[in-house]
Amino acid sequence: MAIQGTEESIEIGGRALPVWPEGQRLLARDQAGTIYRTVFDDSALYHEALTAHVLARAAEPGTAVQYSRSLGGTKIYDVEHWDLPEARLLNARALAFFRQALGHESAAIDIGWANVYGRGDYIMPHSHTRAYASVVYCLEAGDEDPEDDNAGRFCFVDPRFADCCQIEPGRMTNPLKPAFPPGAMLMFPGEMVHFVGPYNGTRPRITIAWNVNLEAIEGSPLEPFLNKQTAPAG
Ligand SMILES: [Fe+2]
Repeated sequence: MAIQGTEESIEIGGRALPVWPEGQRLLARDQAGTIYRTVFDDSALYHEALTAHVLARAAEPGTAVQYSRSLGGTKIYDVEHWDLPEARLLNARALAFFRQALGHESAAIDIGWANVYGRGDYIMPHSHTRAYASVVYCLEAGDEDPEDDNAGRFCFVDPRFADCCQIEPGRMTNPLKPAFPPGAMLMFPGEMVHFVGPYNGTRPRITIAWNVNLEAIEGSPLEPFLNKQTAPAG
């Protein structure tokens, strides 16, 4: 079941954290509004508890799934239903981001999932089904690889996007690597092709993602992928 998420603040550790802090800036990467980015400065107030929760669930047989090393990290689904204030805050922020970026009042999460990347995990280029837009949040950036700037980096590779075609228009030669530190949230059209380069660190790299639509849509977001060699929305 999708959620709508209209709370203005959520209490965490005895403090009411605003879903969209006053003055929270939302930046479009380009004039067409293809990619948006924002960074939440209060992330230290909820990252520790949320990271612990994600890692605990990632270790639960039957809860977490890893399709293969090339299809992303270990995934834990249904973040939109987690009974945890820190998760509720991020769910609400993803919806608020969608509403503000697109100027729509309505928004509904189709599915949310956490990704835990270990060494060697990556995901091949893909786009997201059942998603008007997708939102991804960096919970833990993991370790940088000083010898490979693509290691563990979230990249867009879309020939429609001018920044990806810096040599010749319409020819994808430049993966776009937005700054994605802990607390950063990106939003992009569901069809926009992206990947994560092979992660080479030792600390878990953790992201949370959501597919968001204007209204809830019928059917199961996972069912079409069952028994196929692909991952739903990595
Ligand atoms: Fe993805």
